[in-house]
Amino acid sequence: MPEFKTVARVGDIPEGEGRAYEVGGRMVAVFQVNGEYSAILDACPHMGASLASGYVESGGVYCPWHAWKFCVKSGTWLDNPKSKIQQPCYEVRVTGEEIQVAAPEETAPAVP
Ligand code: FES
Repeated sequence: MPEFKTVARVGDIPEGEGRAYEVGGRMVAVFQVNGEYSAILDACPHMGASLASGYVESGGVYCPWHAWKFCVKSGTWLDNPKSKIQQPCYEVRVTGEEIQVAAPEETAPAVP
């Protein structure tokens, strides 16, 4: 079972925007679209821009540097969905007022 980390409180991420948080040693972009939260790796696979600061439209985020567009839920590269370019995505849950993101598996602490 993944370990969840609290990154923000409900209301911290405006509708239609993203914010970047450190989770499990990686920067993760957390978005709110239509009242639902989702999370993908923040670093753009092209040249590393922060996707959390990109423009969000129709369920996708435009990279702020060169406008590649990624699905905020699946991480699919929407400019070319058949491409193998895919941003890792992470499970998000809301517990009470806390927005929590599952730590990337490869960096989750080992179970004692
Ligand atoms: S750095 Fe994201 S499209 Fe170039």
